[in-house]
Amino acid sequence: MQPMSHYLPLSRVARLVGQPRAEIQRMVHHGELSTFDGMVDMNELLRVFPDVTWEDDGEFRRVQEIKEKAFGKRVYERALPDKEVLAERLLELGKEFAAAKTLLLHYNEVLRFLDDKLGDVADTGGSATLNAVVGLKHWLKREIDAAPADAARAEALLAQESVMRIMSVQVTVQPSGHEFFVEGNDTLLEAALRAGIPLNYGCSNGNCGDCKARLVSGQVKKVHPHDFVIKESEKANGTFLLCSYTAVTDVVIEATVTGTHDIPEQEITAKVKAVEILNEEVAALHLTAPRSQRLRFLAGQHVTLAIDDTEGEYYVASCPCEDRHIEVHVRRDNRGFSRKVFDSLRKEEPVRVSGPHGNFVMKLDSRRPVLFVAWEDGFAPIKSLVQHAMSLEIAEAIYLYWAADDVGHGLGHYQDNLCRTWTDALDDFVYQPMPAVSGAAVVVDFILAHHPSLVRADIYAAGPADFLNTLRTGALAHGLSPLGWHGEII
Ligand code: FES
Repeated sequence: MQPMSHYLPLSRVARLVGQPRAEIQRMVHHGELSTFDGMVDMNELLRVFPDVTWEDDGEFRRVQEIKEKAFGKRVYERALPDKEVLAERLLELGKEFAAAKTLLLHYNEVLRFLDDKLGDVADTGGSATLNAVVGLKHWLKREIDAAPADAARAEALLAQESVMRIMSVQVTVQPSGHEFFVEGNDTLLEAALRAGIPLNYGCSNGNCGDCKARLVSGQVKKVHPHDFVIKESEKANGTFLLCSYTAVTDVVIEATVTGTHDIPEQEITAKVKAVEILNEEVAALHLTAPRSQRLRFLAGQHVTLAIDDTEGEYYVASCPCEDRHIEVHVRRDNRGFSRKVFDSLRKEEPVRVSGPHGNFVMKLDSRRPVLFVAWEDGFAPIKSLVQHAMSLEIAEAIYLYWAADDVGHGLGHYQDNLCRTWTDALDDFVYQPMPAVSGAAVVVDFILAHHPSLVRADIYAAGPADFLNTLRTGALAHGLSPLGWHGEII
């Protein structure tokens, strides 16, 4: 006999087996894992992953830890959910347990009744009937007593999934279909941004109402008070604020996922967190946005930075999922802003940030392999995009090619170690640093030699115009769809 059917959404399956969601989607796509209404039956899970040891997820934890380190400044809330949320989740789980137990008691009663009825039939029938009934009763007893073949593994899997549901709940966004998890004390807005899903918002502290969403199913709970007034009629149809509420159970919500045109021009004053001199030619400037006014931007966009009377335009190299952290890469030159960063900028000094600008952003629905290609400091927007792709966990595979020169006056692969950490942390991540001195044609030939067909791929490339032209022409000749090309001249 098989264990009882129990269905799990793909995101949870990915977490349980310690694989990226994109890999699970790939398996579904290739018919290696079957689903029913987008859910995976536990029996199917046990069949496809016979080697996963559910009780010992040390390896999964190790990968998670490396991943957290790899994301650098990205802050993960590891705290438990707040007490009331925890109590609600335990109550939900208790209800499920009670329902399952009641059903089991009912089945017991049915079996007892069946046993009595079979006894009656045996008493009143002839010897042939008696033999048949005795045979049937033996079979029934044997089947009921025998533990299902995978009982121990199924039990461990169920236990692990239950713990997971207490610690984090899943959110599905309609109509986009995005999914993310809410962990610790995160609001729905914080959790969405951390997962790389740019839901619409404004102030992030309950004043503007821009983060209004509608609860379709499940339960949410207010964790921060808000001044914005939601009309009674809106409340009645499930409207709430993403920045004030967390999810108690798995929820489905209706919310708007933003594009570049939805994000208004903002001006904030951030503070210098650190100036990190990466080498002779490049420094990473780390800024912290005020708690009450984080900068809204999409990975791949740029901003204007100003200190006193000097300013410069820089790509944001950090991920919007990194809370209040803004990182830009500043090249050493004779302009005032660069000189200030290299020579005199100190911790805590104010920097005016305005923006964001630009349309070099990720397509959020592409599940194909993605090639990120950077030429020298074109790495800044590419770094932000790579981290965004990692948090989204939807690309089948990520390739990062970075052309730069480590000798002479080249900028060098100035965050090479970080890229190598990504390679260690993620199964489907390939990093290839290359010298730029050999020229655009050689670099492009090298990349294309590793991707004979680009029919199912997206390319995001940042660098000088001649390099981008060479790469685009070559990639289209290798089957890349024009829609799959995203280039930014730097
Ligand atoms: S973002 Fe302004 S109220 Fe939520």
